Amino acid sequence: MSNHSGWDKRYSNPDFIYGTEPNKYLCNTLKNLKPGSLLLPGEGEGRNALWAAKHGWDVTAFDSSSVAQQKALNLFKQHSVNVSYLITDIQNLTLSEQFNAIGMVFVHLERSMFAQAAKKLTGLLKPNGHLIIEMFNQNQLHLNSGGPKNPNFFVTPRELKTMFNSLTIIELKNEEVYLDEGPLHQGKAMVIRMHAVK
Ligand SMILES: C[S@@+](CC[C@H](N)C(=O)[O-])C[C@H]1O[C@@H](n2cnc3c(N)ncnc32)[C@H](O)[C@@H]1O
Repeated sequence: MSNHSGWDKRYSNPDFIYGTEPNKYLCNTLKNLKPGSLLLPGEGEGRNALWAAKHGWDVTAFDSSSVAQQKALNLFKQHSVNVSYLITDIQNLTLSEQFNAIGMVFVHLERSMFAQAAKKLTGLLKPNGHLIIEMFNQNQLHLNSGGPKNPNFFVTPRELKTMFNSLTIIELKNEEVYLDEGPLHQGKAMVIRMHAVK
């Protein structure tokens, strides 16, 4: 299980701790796809959902933090966009529809739980559906620009390739980036970027 109360506490800050602008890798990748249905796991305060809904995507988001959900719903209302936002732990996620794309941004789970989530997310993609992931890699442990401090909450590109072995990889790489995403993601960061298709 993830630490829900820890996330609720973090999100009780009235500011948007990851900002209200979308993650660059996610939106730059989505820009090249035809809008359709989009699932955003661990969507937090709704910044990616807001951008995607404004750009024609039919967005379903979920997160385990109800404090994050409330901030996201306020953001959507302020911008008059419609997003379906569920409260659930990814382990308990049950959805009957499949999606044209899934965008998972900085969602870190303990490795075995990530592997289970990968199976579930693969099943939730339509044939030809796109999976887009940005997350920190292990080298982020030495930096202060965000991310978990427990090494078990990181996976490697090789592990991602295995976990999503039924998908065709379009891009999968470690990258050094400069984050400017609200007060909690600031500065040089070491990330994995993955784009794959079913
Ligand atoms: C670093 S935040 C990223 C939020 C958002 N994706 C963004 O880019 O702004 C990680 C999010 O994952 C959520 N999360 C962590 N573990 C989860 C789980 N097991 N099930 C659902 N959400 C989870 C947290 O509540 C948090 O909102």
